[in-house]
Amino acid sequence: MPALVYLTRRFEFAAAHRIYNPAWSDEKNAELFGPCSNPMGHGHNYTLEVTIGGTPDPETGYVMDLRQLKKLVEETIIQHLDHKHLNYDVPLLHGKIPSTENLIVLIWDELQKALPGHIRLFRLRLWETNNNYFEYYGEKTD
Ligand code: NI
Repeated sequence: MPALVYLTRRFEFAAAHRIYNPAWSDEKNAELFGPCSNPMGHGHNYTLEVTIGGTPDPETGYVMDLRQLKKLVEETIIQHLDHKHLNYDVPLLHGKIPSTENLIVLIWDELQKALPGHIRLFRLRLWETNNNYFEYYGEKTD
């Protein structure tokens, strides 16, 4: 039986956001979200770890050519987020609070569509600061 091998590549991007629920008053946003809701937003240097799984190709020995993975993630994700304001510049986030939780789900859905069929997206890990990251395995609850 062919071996299933996982490969992780790290990407970085910088983006701004404001955690803000438009259904609430400014006072309630400030109370609930604190400085994360400052009106002009704030920035993060995000690190995205993309883990894919697959079977090493008999001709190359690769699960997926890393140059191909890099290009695909940069074109599908990074160039749409890097140096952007997540509240305004990312159409797929419109109507959603641009938390890192919502962002990682969006990234999953976009990568899933873009990856070749034989490659399995196994895990995303999105670092918001050096001290916290979010993970997503594509799971849904009912
Ligand atoms: Ni933030």
